Amino acid sequence: MTTNPFQDSPSDFVLNHYAFDAVVFLRDYWQKKPCVIRQAFIDFQDPISADELAGLSMEAGVDSRVVSCNSGKWDLEHGPINDFTKLGERNWSLLVQAVNEHYPPAQELLRAFRFLPDWRIDDLMVSYSTPGGGVGPHLDQYDVFIVQGMGSRRWQVGASGDFQTHCPHPDLKQVAEFAPIINEVLEPGDMIYIPAGFPHAGDTVQEALNYSVGLRAPSQAELISALADHALEHDGLQQRFRDRVEVLLDNSQAELADREPWHLPREIVADCRNLMVAALNDEALLHKVCAELFSKNPRPPLPEWPEKPYTEAALIYSCQRFDILVKAVGVRMITTTLAGQLYAVVQGHWYALDTDAEALFGVLCDMTDFAETQTIVDYLKSDNARALLCGLLNEGLFILANDEE
Ligand code: SIN
Ligand code: CO
Repeated sequence: MTTNPFQDSPSDFVLNHYAFDAVVFLRDYWQKKPCVIRQAFIDFQDPISADELAGLSMEAGVDSRVVSCNSGKWDLEHGPINDFTKLGERNWSLLVQAVNEHYPPAQELLRAFRFLPDWRIDDLMVSYSTPGGGVGPHLDQYDVFIVQGMGSRRWQVGASGDFQTHCPHPDLKQVAEFAPIINEVLEPGDMIYIPAGFPHAGDTVQEALNYSVGLRAPSQAELISALADHALEHDGLQQRFRDRVEVLLDNSQAELADREPWHLPREIVADCRNLMVAALNDEALLHKVCAELFSKNPRPPLPEWPEKPYTEAALIYSCQRFDILVKAVGVRMITTTLAGQLYAVVQGHWYALDTDAEALFGVLCDMTDFAETQTIVDYLKSDNARALLCGLLNEGLFILANDEE
């Protein structure tokens, strides 16, 4: 176990650096080729039990599904799952998304993946599977690390390429059988890395728990839509289409161009493209859009607003009345420098940072779910630091509480 001074408990999940060298991995494998890392975690202890996972899948608001295959017939049931008894002892698996948010102790496992920037990590999906269970051969659009918890599972991964997909069930997309380039049984603590677009299939040997670390990779559509949303919200990007005389008139500029009035010529599309490119070239705007997008959890946290807003003037006194500062589940936090000023961006809210506020922000980013207020008060040295915490408390993203609450 290693100790982090800002955490409430030491981390149980530290990558075994003899088995996994982050630099070598990023250089030689990341987004290039799949690999198996034996004993990536020594003495791996499951952060959640199969029963606890089943309990989560029974809750409304938790994204879960059961996938089964019997006599070649695939079936899928979306959660909440109320009855496991009909499933039998073989050939099915239960998959639960964002377990780190529904069951905060599981968040700890994601900390081991901080060799990647925080914003790139999406969620921890946990699957429980019985012998023969799996979701069949498929492709994922995102890179994934899959850690083997209890039990064992055979993983087959093929080379990337063009694969025809088919749906043996309306909600299940699969690819045909592929020639494996990896074909190995994973034991507790082992990990497999599968880049996006590599076909793979997990087949359970012994009743298993698997932890899939999902990565976030915005698409062009998502980025452009975020830019458009931001512009519409802030009355930005108001430059409009203007006609070019040479498109309306002929070469001599003495007559109308010889075109049907209902025709859309390529030149107009090119002009629209130029208008859009000019929008994308607004570097400061793009920087704001990316910072806000990456600081927002796609599954937004539920804010817990204070009954009465906190004030910066009374903040230290307010903190001292409570034992702990709690981070709302799923809060995303980043820093970025814009026009020479360092900012913290939390769920789309901006806070200017000076050195003291930056130190406080580091503590807030590093804490798992809570920190002692006594520690926090020591960081409230500047106006910026107080404005930061006060803002986060008033947004309901951090909460002052007493231990027994
Ligand atoms: C699973 O754990 O069965 C599914 C993980 C995956 O293949 O993405
Ligand atoms: Co997959």
